[in-house]
Amino acid sequence: MTIDATARAHPNMALVKYWGKRDEQIMLPSTGSLSMTLDEFPTTTTVQLREDHGPDVLELNGAVAQGEPLRRVTRFLDLVRERAGSEARAVVRSRNEVPTGAGLASSASGFAALATAASAVYELPQDTRSLSRLARRGSGSACRSIIDRMAVWHAGEDDATSFAEQIEAPELAMVVVVVDAGGKKVSSREAMRLTAATSPFAAAWRASTARTLEEMLAACREGDVERIGELAETNALRMHAVIQSTVPSVRYLRGASVGVFDAIEQLRADGLQAWGTADAGPNVVAITRPADAAAVADALAGHGEVRVVRPGPGARLVDERVA
Ligand code: DP6
Repeated sequence: MTIDATARAHPNMALVKYWGKRDEQIMLPSTGSLSMTLDEFPTTTTVQLREDHGPDVLELNGAVAQGEPLRRVTRFLDLVRERAGSEARAVVRSRNEVPTGAGLASSASGFAALATAASAVYELPQDTRSLSRLARRGSGSACRSIIDRMAVWHAGEDDATSFAEQIEAPELAMVVVVVDAGGKKVSSREAMRLTAATSPFAAAWRASTARTLEEMLAACREGDVERIGELAETNALRMHAVIQSTVPSVRYLRGASVGVFDAIEQLRADGLQAWGTADAGPNVVAITRPADAAAVADALAGHGEVRVVRPGPGARLVDERVA
């Protein structure tokens, strides 16, 4: 029997956002979404079965984690154990090169890597669809980080039909502008609940996102980068609008973030094509063509630390272990 396995996964940046669940128990999203898996900021996770019957242990970047992070991992492993018919507890060691809580979705790379490593040690199915469905149970957006390059997450009707798969799309690049690497005050999960419970715009958000996803899939098929960028920017700003409309209001974008959106608009006025997006945090990501990425990065460097990213690999098993 395999005693340990290690997997690596990368975050993904949504071009059509996932914001809301129709079933939180099995993590069904209220709409489908679409993303690019990044080639930077990997999470590497080793899952090692315990032979001494001790409890699950989580180590994040070398430090033992307790509280909510450990509970989330234990709940996820309980699901894995139930499916595998196993009672074995595990030591999970994870090394994360994402600024945690900065809106660069470390939970996506984290649960994609955990699902992949855990499926290997607990001997669950390891095909892409099964891994995507399982990763979804840890964190919705993690189902997309299983996938190479560009992924659509089909909202689905039930556990079996809600998974991500690869799509063809033109070559894109992104420029991540880290305006603030600090943690966020309200988790995405909490803010999604608040949106469903208190925003008068929640239904409009769901309806418009479902339409945008269809348009985005068509733009990807046609290789229309300009349309992809326009749709992504509109969808991101609509998501932040619905988030701000909660009671109490949640605002992830800071003044500096809005400054980056303004700068991106100015770049377009100056003839350089780039479009903005942002997840549940203050950092802004410019979507552009690979040939324009260096110029966009130079232009935005005054707003924060910039990193150019490209489409990256889906989650996979690796040989090295996290010590
Ligand atoms: C703003 O996947 O982190 O990044 O499913 O509750 O774990 P849970 O939420 P999570 O939410 C991601 C929200 C987002 C948009 C996106 O990635 O599509």
